[in-house]
Amino acid sequence: MDSFTLILLGATGDLSRRKIWPSLYDLFAHGAFEASFSIVAVGRTSHGDASFRKYVAEVLVEKDQKHLDEFVEHIHYSETDATSSAGAAKLDKDLQKFEAEGMSPNRIFHLAILPELYGKVSKLLFENNLHKSKGWVRLLIEKPFGTSLSSAKELDVILKKGLGEDQIFRTDHYLAKETVQNILAFRFGNGLLEPIWNRDFIDHIEIHQLEEIGVEGRGKFYDNTGTLHDVVQNHLLQVLAVTTMDRPDMFTAGQVREKRAKLLQGIKVYTNREEVAQYVVRGQYEGYKEIQHVDPHSTTETFVALRLEIEQERWQGVPIYIRAGKKLGVKTSEVSIVFKQPKSSLFPLDEASKSYPTILTLRLSPNEGIAWQMAVKKPGMNMSLEPLTLAAQFSQLKSGLMEPYEKILLDAYKGDQTLFASSHEVEAQWRFVDPISLAWQDPEFAPNPYPPGSNGPADSDALLERDGRKWHEVAL
Ligand code: BG6
Repeated sequence: MDSFTLILLGATGDLSRRKIWPSLYDLFAHGAFEASFSIVAVGRTSHGDASFRKYVAEVLVEKDQKHLDEFVEHIHYSETDATSSAGAAKLDKDLQKFEAEGMSPNRIFHLAILPELYGKVSKLLFENNLHKSKGWVRLLIEKPFGTSLSSAKELDVILKKGLGEDQIFRTDHYLAKETVQNILAFRFGNGLLEPIWNRDFIDHIEIHQLEEIGVEGRGKFYDNTGTLHDVVQNHLLQVLAVTTMDRPDMFTAGQVREKRAKLLQGIKVYTNREEVAQYVVRGQYEGYKEIQHVDPHSTTETFVALRLEIEQERWQGVPIYIRAGKKLGVKTSEVSIVFKQPKSSLFPLDEASKSYPTILTLRLSPNEGIAWQMAVKKPGMNMSLEPLTLAAQFSQLKSGLMEPYEKILLDAYKGDQTLFASSHEVEAQWRFVDPISLAWQDPEFAPNPYPPGSNGPADSDALLERDGRKWHEVAL
């Protein structure tokens, strides 16, 4: 690991406070930074180094304070409005001065700012030559990357004016979750799975991201975003990619990203509004419109269920069902692989026992772990079946799970792009999502209401019932 300087734009913002400062501190306290480093916090608020260090110490008040004094010593403050040319020029001057005093010229710009400012701020950084340094330069950029295929492409054009693809780190914290990384470890580290991971053995796949909490303090952001853009376009399509991508020959960033991209490019895009109406369910929880900063006539969705297919030989004819939403009766993020039933039944099955397929559930959170639901003999006189779940939680393993943000930051500093989305992946994700967003502009597609604490609107169940299936919930 080289020495580096993190230039954190948006250093007093919500993301920095909730995720970035705590993760930086934890990495430091665990000795994860193997080389010398500095942090240049960039913000408009008036601060000197001392008062900003005090601010960070207050943000980290809940943390074990053992290494705090030492940690904040690494922080410098640049009072700068990075959305103006004069501000970018000042930041350039500050960095040159710091570097002349011995700070590392390996620069990582972390854009923890409003997504609508990514293009403007990057342009200003390049115009003021901040991407030209004696050391290497990287840019860490948060999701969402664009709001459509065309805006994502435009943003990419701006970034590529100053940087190469190998310098751009597009975050998706789901990729950095231990449990999502474990999908690859589990699939490719156990010889028995790959031969059955295809349309011959798998009936369908379900991906769930269900939350009990509502939109609460994020009314403004959420009302402009909605579930489709907030979690389906990025997190859930990435989980799908990791679950269904081909095996790379080697576990390198280039190969893993290429396989994920290939999978995402294989998703069948809905070609008209009839298909969107048929395969995508849109819901909004009752009471959402009363939330502060939400439009009282809002048609933003807080729930999505959809059915998609992957046009690749391995997955031909295997439907994928994705379901995500807020204010639901249960909190879980998980993937369920539902296997085909035996072609002919050896046992005289009664009607009820026919619905016990083998299901492999990979639970991303909470109770992170793996469960197999399998059919076994129901104890008693008759030969009939019932389901039994074999479950194991990762908490049984000795080491604790690493926070996704720690992994994101550490990998960016090391220059490892495996868990970051490439431009090809992001574009393929928008290519699938755009026709849905377009159809939804029509008032006919207004979301269906659902009561808080429920499973979402009734047509979410109907989406599977039409195919003779139902959503599965496996206890873990
Ligand atoms: C974020 C979304 O990216 O992911 C949130 O903006 C969502 O709306 C969150 O709640 C879910 O992440 P996790 O890690 O809590 O499952």
